[in-house]
Amino acid sequence: MRPFVIKDKSVPSGEINFPGDKSIAHRALIISAISRGKTNIKNFPVCDDSLATLGALVALGVKISRSNKQVLVRPGPGLLKPVKPIFVGNSGATLRLLLGVLAGQYFTTKLLAGKYLSVRPMARVNLPLRMMGARITAKYKGQEEYPPIVITGNKLKGISYRMPVASAQVKSAILLAGLSAKGRTRVIQPVKTRDHTERMLKAFGAKITTDGNSVILNPGKSLVSPGEIYIPGDISSAAFFMVLASIIPGSNVIIRRASLNPGRCGIINVLKRMRAKIEVSRPKDMKARSFEPMGDLSVSSSRLKATVINSGEIPSLVDELPVLMVAACFARGSTIIKGAGELRVKETDRINSMSRNLKLMGADIRVVKSGSKENIVINGKGKLKGARLKSFGDHRTAMSMVVAALAAEGRSEIDDVSCISKSFPGFIATLKSLIKR
Ligand code: S3P
Repeated sequence: MRPFVIKDKSVPSGEINFPGDKSIAHRALIISAISRGKTNIKNFPVCDDSLATLGALVALGVKISRSNKQVLVRPGPGLLKPVKPIFVGNSGATLRLLLGVLAGQYFTTKLLAGKYLSVRPMARVNLPLRMMGARITAKYKGQEEYPPIVITGNKLKGISYRMPVASAQVKSAILLAGLSAKGRTRVIQPVKTRDHTERMLKAFGAKITTDGNSVILNPGKSLVSPGEIYIPGDISSAAFFMVLASIIPGSNVIIRRASLNPGRCGIINVLKRMRAKIEVSRPKDMKARSFEPMGDLSVSSSRLKATVINSGEIPSLVDELPVLMVAACFARGSTIIKGAGELRVKETDRINSMSRNLKLMGADIRVVKSGSKENIVINGKGKLKGARLKSFGDHRTAMSMVVAALAAEGRSEIDDVSCISKSFPGFIATLKSLIKR
């Protein structure tokens, strides 16, 4: 793989349409596959992770056809025992959400993972699913569990579960298992996380309610497809352009039809606190059936100032923290990100990947332990310098470093950006369409 080279500063300007939200796409596919009736999914993100979910469902006997960004799901009377182990690539959401579905299926499935997912923790999802009755074995190392995972479905019982980590994937797995359980399932979140699963289940007719940080699912209602789902643009992909347009003087970028789920809008709130110029509008033509809020974002450059990101905000922007670290380098003052520890267990250890890269670019960034929590402190200098950088095989580290390199003085190179295809294969092309020299 040849390194990706960025020679000098560029000013992005123009309008972008970008891929559908990958998090919503996983739910749309999985819930369509276990419901009655066909579902037409529009603006489907064609990337490694959502294709991993699609492939896994096909292996479980679901009929799915795709023509570019349009997917048609035609479920049969039930899922079928796969003929061989299912490979889910490096998609954590595919693996964790599928475990929830498979917990109540009366067959055994072996789930294999790629290099990066194979070192990510799975006990957080295996433990509550076992409490519900699923039989699961994994690779054990001390108290932790890793893929590959073998799951045998069982008669399940509903549980009331207080999640030790604020994870939408764990919550979703428990709720999906709850669909086939006897009795009520209640998940109590330490902090609210994205509610795509709840919204999608409601759209398919499930009896699901929320009470503060708790989500309650009463099983027994069979799910029926609403026929069509439109997936709004992925705010996690938009984030790179929001930061880019904020830190490069003279920029102005309009982002069309982005998902504005409140559980995902932390990036907008934080950037606005940093004095970014972001306007959000919800044009009237957005009547598409997405069951999710969406809108257009207009972002132009400004002088950013530092902020404090509290641990309670982390779930609403967890995937955007790498690029927010880049924004912090260009802001005046000291930005503190509190309770950032979950970044250690993403596609790579993103505290390590981002601080190593940003230090090479001259950033003042350090990690401060506060009890069991890790805080990141960045003293913004208003600039970075070009350097030889590494993606660590992580799509969001790679895209964040492209953003940093475009705003930096001098030449940068990034060792391998092929990992970007995990979420946003068209990232570089979209970027090029915005750059005027
Ligand atoms: C996701 C939830 C988050 C996020 C991941 C996608 C989801 O993970 O980081 O990229 O689709 O539910 P956690 O649930 O582990 O926090």
